[in-house]
Amino acid sequence: MRIFAILFVSVVVSATRAFADEPQLSAREIYEGACASCHGVDGRGAADSGVTVPLPDLGDCRFVTAENDGNWRYLLLHGGQSFGLSSQMPGFEGILTVEQINAVLDYIRAFCHDPAWAHGDLNFRRALITTKAFPEDEFLIKPEFDKGRDGVRDWVTEMSFERRVGARGQIELSLPFAAHDVTGGATTGGIGDMTVAYKHVLYANRPSRTIVAAGVDLGLPTGDRHRHLGEGTVKFAPTLLIGQRLGPIVLQGQIRGDAPIDESRADRSVRYRLAFSYPFSSLKRDWVPTVEIEALQNVTAAQHQLFVTPQIYRGLSARGHIAVAIGAQIPVAGDPDPFDVRVLSFFLWEYSDGGLWW
Ligand code: HEC
Repeated sequence: MRIFAILFVSVVVSATRAFADEPQLSAREIYEGACASCHGVDGRGAADSGVTVPLPDLGDCRFVTAENDGNWRYLLLHGGQSFGLSSQMPGFEGILTVEQINAVLDYIRAFCHDPAWAHGDLNFRRALITTKAFPEDEFLIKPEFDKGRDGVRDWVTEMSFERRVGARGQIELSLPFAAHDVTGGATTGGIGDMTVAYKHVLYANRPSRTIVAAGVDLGLPTGDRHRHLGEGTVKFAPTLLIGQRLGPIVLQGQIRGDAPIDESRADRSVRYRLAFSYPFSSLKRDWVPTVEIEALQNVTAAQHQLFVTPQIYRGLSARGHIAVAIGAQIPVAGDPDPFDVRVLSFFLWEYSDGGLWW
C-alpha cells in the first residue's frame, strides 16, 4: 500500500513539475492541474482519484474555513505525512511557488460560498485567561492551583466542551472539580459551579486581521457553597471579545461583567483583559509566549486589582490540534491580594481536526 502511494504521488508530481516555471497560471489552472485529480473540480473529491483514504470535503464551509493558512501552506509544501495525515496527500515543494500555494489556498477557501464563516487565520491561539473570539470545536482540561494569603490552597480542574453552532456561534459547557484545603483544617472536594455559555462572531475581517464576538455565560450553583465549592447563586456574565493581529503580535481583548442574582453571595464585578502574544510562526504547533494583563474592578467590595500572567503555549501534535499552555498569575497592584500566586494551565484538543493520538 505504501509503495503504491509513493508511486502514485511521484506520477502526480512529475505530471505537475512545470507549475513553478509558469508564474502566469491562474489559481484555477493550478488547482485543476495539481489538485483536482484527487480533490475533484468542485473540491468534493474525484470519483476516480485512486486514493485509498477518505478525502476531505473542501466544499464544506466548516472544514475549509477553520484551518489557518500557515498550517495548510506547510501541508502543501511538505505533504500529508509531515502533517500527521496520509502520505497520499503529496507535497509540492519545488513544484509550486509559495505565491502559487497561497493563490490555490484562496481558491479552495472560495469553495465555501457563505461569507459568514470566519477565516481560520483569525483563529488566534488561546490565552489562559482572556477568552478567544473565534468559535471552536474543542475539549479543554484546565487545571489551576492557588495559595491564598491566609494559607488556604485551592485546586480546581475545569473540563470544558465547546461546539460550533452554525457559521458564527459556539456553545460551551464547563464543569469544575474543586478541592479546597485549609492549613491544619479539613480538605473538601467535589463539583463546583457549572457554566453554560454562548458566543457569537459579530465581525470578522481577514484582510485587517480583526475578529469581534460577544457572548454570555450563565453560572449555575451546582457546587456546595458551604464547603467552598461554589458561590450558591445564579450568575450572568456578558462579555465582549476582540482579536487583532498587528504584524507579528496578536492582541486579544475582553471585557466581562459578572452579575450574580444574589449579591450577598458573589461579587458584582467588571474585568478588563488584554493578552499580547508573539507566535514563533504561523504553524499552529509552534511556541507562543504570551503576557496577559487583567484589571478587576470589584463593584460589590469597592476594590480594584491588577494581575499579570506570563505564560507559554505549545502544540503537541503535528497539526497543533492538541496543545498545552501553562502560566502564573501574579497580583501586581491594588487592594489586598486575594492570593500569593496562581498557576494556570490547559490542555486542549480540537476534536474535529483529528483524534487524540494522531
Ligand atoms: C494524489 C492525490 C492528491 C493530490 C494531487 C492532492 N491532494 Fe490534497 N489530499 C489528498 C488526500 C488523500 C488527503 C487526505 C489526507 C488525510 O486525511 O489523511 C488530502 C487532504 C488535503 C487537505 C486537507 C488537510 C487537512 O487539514 O485535513 C487539503 C487542504 C488539501 N488536501 C489540499 C490540496 C491541494 C490545494 C492540492 C493541490 C495543490 C492537493 N491537495 C493535491 C490527496 C491529494
